[in-house]
Amino acid sequence: MTQTRKENPFYVGGPVPPRYFVGRGSEVNIAFDQISNGSHLALWGGPGMGKSSFLRFIAEPQTWIDRQYDHSQALIVLLNCSTINPFTPGAFWREILSKLREKVEGNVALRSPIEVILQQLSIQKSDVQRVLRLIGQQQQFLVLLLDDYHAALVANANYTEEEMTNFLSEFRNLAINGEESRYLSTIVTSLRRLNELGPEIKFNASPWYNHYLFQPLKPFTQNDVASWFYLSDRITQELHDGVHEVAGQHPALLQTAYYLLYNNLRTGQVPEVEAFFRNFESATKHFLRDMWVFSSPDEQVLMMLIALSKLEGRLNRKRKYDLGDMDLIFSQRNRELRDLEERGLITYKVEQGKFAIAFTSSLMEWWVIKEIENSSTTTELVTREKVMLNLMSRKQAEKIKTVMVQVWEHQDTIQSIVGWVSKLVSALSV
Ligand SMILES: Nc1ncnc2c1ncn2[C@@H]1O[C@H](COP(=O)(O)OP(=O)(O)O)[C@@H](O)[C@H]1O
Ligand SMILES: [Mg+2]
Repeated sequence: MTQTRKENPFYVGGPVPPRYFVGRGSEVNIAFDQISNGSHLALWGGPGMGKSSFLRFIAEPQTWIDRQYDHSQALIVLLNCSTINPFTPGAFWREILSKLREKVEGNVALRSPIEVILQQLSIQKSDVQRVLRLIGQQQQFLVLLLDDYHAALVANANYTEEEMTNFLSEFRNLAINGEESRYLSTIVTSLRRLNELGPEIKFNASPWYNHYLFQPLKPFTQNDVASWFYLSDRITQELHDGVHEVAGQHPALLQTAYYLLYNNLRTGQVPEVEAFFRNFESATKHFLRDMWVFSSPDEQVLMMLIALSKLEGRLNRKRKYDLGDMDLIFSQRNRELRDLEERGLITYKVEQGKFAIAFTSSLMEWWVIKEIENSSTTTELVTREKVMLNLMSRKQAEKIKTVMVQVWEHQDTIQSIVGWVSKLVSALSV
């Protein structure tokens, strides 16, 4: 497609088509290393971090050609596990074989046996193993790209914990044991690290995930951002800084902020900051909500504490909040903080026992405060209090509860967006 001058160069809504794909150089190299070795890769990253876009990019023949990998022997099957509803191993294998069947249309030696298997009432791992053997005999190999693999790690009425354990160990077996395993490589994506999900490992069993190389899909690097997002000469450096203030380096937030901004600028309008921010919030609400919902209760409370600790500087009307010794709490929660950092939500540094923590996106920070403002029911408070008592002393928890009540009472943030986006405000008022 040729790009007209007016076409918006930014992309929102679902996985990016490969021509919009930005960065991820190192992860793409790792993926091809694993595929070349017949090995396995597990990527994890939060909502909107680019998991589906990544797999779609790997599935694209042009990506192989550009990197001088021969794709003519590769049978690439891309499957989103959350579309199998309810998830069962039988439905999973069936879906894989149906998609594979589409790939081998002109190859009778593979197509016919797959069609025979698809006629069966139930499909087992051994059927897939047989197909793999045939694939190997044809000097071909199977690349399974499994998106949202976490969907396979939740039991349902048709899928007990025991069946899950069994499925996972069979899948591991297919991937690493026996002759056929040489013709298979898999890349799975999930919202969290696989070892934090799925069934517990029994002491006498091998972990079902130990054949994967694990890599987090992190927010974009500075270079990723520079290579693409600076492409429009309509956007000044001040506006770039303003976008980074609200969106951080988060792929979906960044693309959305740029998309909306570009949309305004191409009609010759400089958007009004309040309207822009509301628009941005409403377009990214589902990511914000999912980022929140898929965080553990401890992480949610930590995010609330981080947001509260910044609140004084944010509000138009100066208020004093006495939060007590937050550094003490943060110092005992290094693991969670690292996890939040890895997921691109915060950055933090410790110097001489003092924590310098910031949200990467001021929109996310604003949203967390809104969560506090909106969660003022007694039941919510009781649940949060329990979590708080895991993290801190009763005295400290009391202090924080008092601050939360102040936040509910004043509902300040709703009126004072300006304090959250100062760079954007100055860029838009030029
Ligand atoms: N590599 C990338 N290049 C450009 N934009 C991306 C990239 N990855 C993600 N995005 C942006 O983020 C949005 C969400 O990406 P998606 O792959 O659907 O995330 P996930 O599957 O992790 O939820 C896309 O619509 C796009 O705007
Ligand atoms: Mg996705």
